Amino acid sequence: MRTPLVAGNWKMNGSREANRALVSALKGSLGDIQGVDVAVCPPAVYLAEIATDLSGSVIALGAQDCSDQEKGAYTGELSGPMLAEVGCRYVIVGHSERRERQNESSAWVAAKFVAAQSAGLIPILCVGEQKVDRESGRTENVVAEQLDAVLDAAGVEAFERAVIAYEPVWAIGTGLTATPEQAQEVHAFIRNRVASRDPRVAADLRILYGGSMKAENAAGLLALDDIDGGLIGGASLDAAAFTAIANAAGERVVA
Ligand code: 13P
Repeated sequence: MRTPLVAGNWKMNGSREANRALVSALKGSLGDIQGVDVAVCPPAVYLAEIATDLSGSVIALGAQDCSDQEKGAYTGELSGPMLAEVGCRYVIVGHSERRERQNESSAWVAAKFVAAQSAGLIPILCVGEQKVDRESGRTENVVAEQLDAVLDAAGVEAFERAVIAYEPVWAIGTGLTATPEQAQEVHAFIRNRVASRDPRVAADLRILYGGSMKAENAAGLLALDDIDGGLIGGASLDAAAFTAIANAAGERVVA
């Protein structure tokens, strides 16, 4: 059985005051939610204090990135053990914004994935194609390259303790959402690719959709067989919208 996961990627947004208000609203609205796992991924500088604010709630904490190294002379980086120590359960790796702006290669993302798991964190591995890839019919090639790099480095069994997020880059922050059919097609491709290495791991693997997911379109996406939750950007900063998405996911439990 796959319990859906709805995770909010706050990206570089928030302030102490705004975070307190958002966390307090979410604790109220999601307090006793069932049938769905929920997480928020705030900017790293706020993780420790949000961990305290979330203690005792059903909302888990995640980071937005981690180093591929455990410790040492890596100025500005944060290791998996540090993130785990301050209360993180999840960490996003390979978000397209970092693949683009920080030039993160698939091999580097794979090393981060391995480092995160060594620290006991659950990586949320982001994959997804650019607009030009989709238009040239290369969506599956791009997603396969990003996925295979991690399957090869970590082994398929590692995906027993990981989550994948399919985030078409052209749908992120643009208001354009993949249609449920477009998303389901790629989600099924991802699951089949993992299944070709181990069908049992693939059957239990949570594959989230990300890219302009909102209260209005969540139910249509979440109704599909291979969509097991969402990685939410903009709408995760709005307590009512994020709660509505989590509620939509909670109504669907895949047997
Ligand atoms: P938006 O929901 O703002 O499109 O962002 C999606 C995303 O990148 C989540 O990681």
